[in-house]
Amino acid sequence: MITIFLIWGIVLTMCCYLWLIFGIRRRRMGEPPLENGLIPYLGCALKFGANPLEFLRANQRKHGHVFTCKLMGKYVHFITNSLSYHKVLCHGKYFDWKKFHFTTSAKAFGHRSIDPSDGNTTENINDTFIKTLQGHALNSLTETMMENLQLILRPPFLLKSKSTEWVTEGMYSFCYRVMFEAGYLTLFGRDLTSQDAQSALILENLDNFKQFDKVFPALAAGLPIHVFKTAFQAREKLAEGLRHENLHRRDQVSELIRLRMFLNDTLSTFDDLEKAKTHLAILWASQANTIPATFWSLFQMIRNPEARKAATEEVNTALEKAGQRISFEGDPIYLNQMQLNDLPVLDSIIKEALRLSSASLNIRTAKEDFTLHLEEGSYNIRKDDIIALYPQLMHLDPEIYPDPLTFKYDRYLDENRKTKTTFYSNGVKLKYYYMPFGSGATICPGRLFAVQEIKQFLILMLLYFEIELVESHVKCPPLDQSRAGLGILPPLNDIDFKYKLKYL
Ligand code: HEM
Repeated sequence: MITIFLIWGIVLTMCCYLWLIFGIRRRRMGEPPLENGLIPYLGCALKFGANPLEFLRANQRKHGHVFTCKLMGKYVHFITNSLSYHKVLCHGKYFDWKKFHFTTSAKAFGHRSIDPSDGNTTENINDTFIKTLQGHALNSLTETMMENLQLILRPPFLLKSKSTEWVTEGMYSFCYRVMFEAGYLTLFGRDLTSQDAQSALILENLDNFKQFDKVFPALAAGLPIHVFKTAFQAREKLAEGLRHENLHRRDQVSELIRLRMFLNDTLSTFDDLEKAKTHLAILWASQANTIPATFWSLFQMIRNPEARKAATEEVNTALEKAGQRISFEGDPIYLNQMQLNDLPVLDSIIKEALRLSSASLNIRTAKEDFTLHLEEGSYNIRKDDIIALYPQLMHLDPEIYPDPLTFKYDRYLDENRKTKTTFYSNGVKLKYYYMPFGSGATICPGRLFAVQEIKQFLILMLLYFEIELVESHVKCPPLDQSRAGLGILPPLNDIDFKYKLKYL
């Protein structure tokens, strides 16, 4: 017995020595300070995952603005000085931005690689996104979204009864329901069968989306979806609904999805289910951040009387200028791109709500060994290492945003009540001061649409409903840190609110 323990002891000690000799990276000359962490492979992942903001701040205090951490077998160089962000982005030729994104998408959604260099497709998906989510295409997308939002927010039965009863609901659930349905219909069109069948289908999709999205942080961290049986089934059902044969039966499918269907059919070797899964990736991208962003914008606007007053005045003026009148019997209201772009108060409210709730991780992989030249010095980076920005550090920096944890609805307004674009750190004007949508080559292609749809939602809520928080001085719910790195963090708990149709 003692011999067996002795042998195991020796084997274990040998493994530890081998790990210490070969498994731990040693910092070379010119490289940033290094944190290997104590756990093989995971490195610092547990500490980082528990509270990324605190973890990064602690390392910033220990090492300065640039440091390297081992996370899940990868070496990640964090650049934490916002004055250096633009310098990082100047090194584009050394970065592979696709590798990480495409691998994560394939793993999470279950399709083969969409990277043209892997040979499954020749579509440049980024070009497709820009063509169909921005410029001219944005007009029809926003127009359809406004129609769909009103289809949901003023359904015929509600208008007929002109119900003056208060309805109480969780605000997050409300935003989830309304934005999911309107967003789904806007991208994937309307079912040509009955209205009832359509509503049932959307509700089923909503449930499946929630199940799948719940495990998304684990999938992004590399766990296989088969570990999560319910989420796996939910993903497969969502994808079923997005098969081309089903999409062909829908009306008013967006340009984005129509073009992607065509390119999938002509340029890829994907089978039918894989094609559907590439559409599922777009559904996720279009909803996962927009829903919590909508909640925070509405919640902050409603709980802040000055913000609500300024927003109401701005919306009423815009409607008047556009020559439109709100009524339950008449046509749905419509504001065009220019009119929507000219709402600096709503813009500022949304920006401030996103500043406080966003925790995205901007990632690039080094294509080769190179030297990264920053404001604070130059650093040698090895091939396949990751360069990461974590803009929440900047969004909550008191140097840039005084009293950073307080919601100030007019933080992004200048003295003329126009959009403010000058922010400083250490007396130096910042090129990058607001980054919930990422940056550079990987910046969110749907960002313009996202802001328009949140604005449209706020406009309709202000115009059609009286809204009150059930508990008028309710505390701001904490952010769900389990999703840090993915974008806008949802609230940890829901907030009850009351709404009823205005008497018009
Ligand atoms: C408030 C809402 C939104 C936020 C905060 C947001 C944020 C982001 C972020 C941080 C990224 C990754 C950037 C990076 O890796 O550096 C991203 C990617 C993406 N977003 Fe958004 N997004 C939002 C809404 C939307 C909407 C409405 C759409 C489409 C209709 C959309 C489509 C996409 C797509 C397709 C990508 C992947 C781009 C690629 O990998 O090439 N997003 N978004």
